[in-house]
Amino acid sequence: MNDWIRELPKAELHIHIEGSLEPELMFALADRHQMTLPYNSIEAAHQAYQFQDLQSFLDLYYAGANVLCTEQDFYDLTWAYLQRADKQTIRHTEIFFDPQTHTQRGIAFEVAIAGIHQALVDGQSQLGISSGLILCFLRHLSAEDAMKTLEDALPYQDWIVGVGLDSSERGHPPSKFTAVFDRARAHGLLTVAHAGEEGPPEYIWEAIDSLKVSRIDHGVRSPEDPKLMAWLKEQQIPLTVCPLSNIELGVFETLEQHPIKQLLDAGLRVTVNSDDPAYFGGYVQENFMAIYEALNLSQQDLYQLAKNSFLSSFVSESAKEIAIAELDAYMHQTLQELPPLYNTL
Ligand code: HPA
Ligand code: ZN
Repeated sequence: MNDWIRELPKAELHIHIEGSLEPELMFALADRHQMTLPYNSIEAAHQAYQFQDLQSFLDLYYAGANVLCTEQDFYDLTWAYLQRADKQTIRHTEIFFDPQTHTQRGIAFEVAIAGIHQALVDGQSQLGISSGLILCFLRHLSAEDAMKTLEDALPYQDWIVGVGLDSSERGHPPSKFTAVFDRARAHGLLTVAHAGEEGPPEYIWEAIDSLKVSRIDHGVRSPEDPKLMAWLKEQQIPLTVCPLSNIELGVFETLEQHPIKQLLDAGLRVTVNSDDPAYFGGYVQENFMAIYEALNLSQQDLYQLAKNSFLSSFVSESAKEIAIAELDAYMHQTLQELPPLYNTL
């Protein structure tokens, strides 16, 4: 099954590129810039990655990002992720980046976006991975700061498909950013937002009503609100779910308690994603494998999750059709190896 999942064509829609910074690259970049890390070794960094909640993770995540200084650093970070994605048959990826994490420490907006963008261009030409870039505002900072960041981004609008909202959720409701998201949409940018990860279902409603999002990132607290569940199903608003992240941050105690199967069975458009793979112990393949094992998913479920990833992406309808045709062909090819699965399709 691990091989089958690895080769299943899929898209990733929820990955913070700064969260793909593996300790190996962190040490290499610290060396490059003669910086000292708070860890003595790669092993010590891995051991330090034990989180109680979202904030305890964010503290290490922002500290880790300090080694990202030059355009080359951002290129190397993004290229390393794309190579991993390629090995896991990720055909399309929509990547978040947090410009304020870098501008706050004196790294110009252009440095981060130029390095990431060039790697994404090379990912398309050298690996055949299509991509989109989503600028995330840090919700623990002010709406004014977010608006200023949007202004910084507008000259690079051709490189960005949309804007999102991440960082500490509790106490920072989506409605705080209504004006910024209005302005982003007026410029033709799509919108997404983290909501219902640690925050309540009301934040999911706000993201839909105030920020007019095309997708909800996480959204795993939706089952607490039956009306919301009905709306998400009726509107087919995608949820970009990150199972290993939710366990590592204590949103759910065990994978067996994770609601992804419940959400899928209820007819919501659920996808599987890695969030911050260097910190949470796995990329998309490992997330698929973990829920397959813990929740007893069928191959039909895995197929639906992969199909949802293409349906929920920001590509053209024709690109979706091509991607899903490849996915269907894969199912046909593997039919003989996996007979019970296909009978249910
Ligand atoms: N939640 C909120 N903000 C984040 C996350 C997350 O899982 N990862 C990186 N920034
Ligand atoms: Zn996230």
